[in-house]
Amino acid sequence: MTVYGVDSIDAAIAAAAGGSAVLNVGRRDVVTPLARDHALENNVEIVVSESARSVTGSEPRPAALSLTASPPPAQISPSPALYRRGAPLAARFLPRSRQKVASSPAGRFDSPSRSRRVPRVVVVGSGRVGMIAAMRLAESDLIDEVVLVDVADGLAAGTALDISHSAGLLGFSTALRGEVTVEAAGPADFTVITAGRARQPGMSRSDLTEVNAAIVGGLARSVARVSPAGVIVVVTNPLDEMTAHVWKMSELPSSRVIGMAGVLDTARFTSLLGGTGLAKPSQIEGMALGSHGEEMFIPRSLMSANGKPVTGQIDNEALEAVVARTRDSGAEVVALLKTGSAFITPGLAAARMVITMILDDDRVIAATVRPSGEYGIDGTYVGLPVRLGRNGLKSIAMLDLDPTEQRALTQAAARIAERVASAPKIVVHA
Ligand code: 2OP
Repeated sequence: MTVYGVDSIDAAIAAAAGGSAVLNVGRRDVVTPLARDHALENNVEIVVSESARSVTGSEPRPAALSLTASPPPAQISPSPALYRRGAPLAARFLPRSRQKVASSPAGRFDSPSRSRRVPRVVVVGSGRVGMIAAMRLAESDLIDEVVLVDVADGLAAGTALDISHSAGLLGFSTALRGEVTVEAAGPADFTVITAGRARQPGMSRSDLTEVNAAIVGGLARSVARVSPAGVIVVVTNPLDEMTAHVWKMSELPSSRVIGMAGVLDTARFTSLLGGTGLAKPSQIEGMALGSHGEEMFIPRSLMSANGKPVTGQIDNEALEAVVARTRDSGAEVVALLKTGSAFITPGLAAARMVITMILDDDRVIAATVRPSGEYGIDGTYVGLPVRLGRNGLKSIAMLDLDPTEQRALTQAAARIAERVASAPKIVVHA
């Protein structure tokens, strides 16, 4: 068995020398989740053949099973457990489609086909999180135009211009623009709200409730007016409360207002657990559910490393320490930076959510959504396993949580509901 990573995709791109890039893999080989993302974003076709093949660029195809041909699940991914970071082990959660992107005759820097691209994504708030999110979104080359918005004169325009120059290095064709208002940005398929104050050392996320509710409440109304058919991704803290607030203020269907936290917390978990030497982060699965804060938990039943359950591979205490550090990671970064909160992984995580929706590939990720009875929770925004698509929430994935995990989820939802109810500024305009 060979494990193919991002390097293998890059090698296939280089070997293609501008032609159609192909990575031939054997049926028993493993293509890491990051490599699959990288392949998808760079139009590299992954072809599963009967026998293991070396990384190839434009060599003639073997009599191979093309991933577009709806093969049976066992042939779609050499290792279901490794298919996606953040996806549970069970094969039933594998993406049903989108296993392969059409090869592009022009090679790496040709844009994905128009049908896969969306016209516009707006990122509101050009601070550090907004900047990183916009960079990643532009680089994905899945969007015709990324527009940054910030009330600070010139900040969005300067940042957008700077990011646009990186097209000369990265080769994307996404246009960038900076504006001072959401109205000037124009209608968007997706709007990412990052605006608001960031934590300072010693502050909890909840300390930001009032000030950020005032900021994002007004924005929510503007975004809904300008993009009534769009999807909003909320990043502003306190995340769970702000997502509920944006939903109420925007008066959009809750399926189109989604909070970003699970992708971030899951990334922190897989990187921290990877840091113990147990497995590479790309070979660790887990899913952060509950709140973005004290009630964040990662169900043991969804954790795996190298395709095997984590339990038994690491002792309980060490695993608990990783989960606790995951929960406290935001505060850890704030304490070190002293001038604001984490921004690189939060920005990338927000971009990942938008890219997931654009690709609409049925992967299961964690996001903050408003269930209608799923997991026994009704009407409270909380972090759950979901499938997202072009119109936001497609479905909540029902996983087999054990009773302790179910209790943790119920408690998280109850605590979030209490916080929303006890913050008058949040509900006043509902
Ligand atoms: C964090 O956890 C900013 O809430 C974000 O770092």
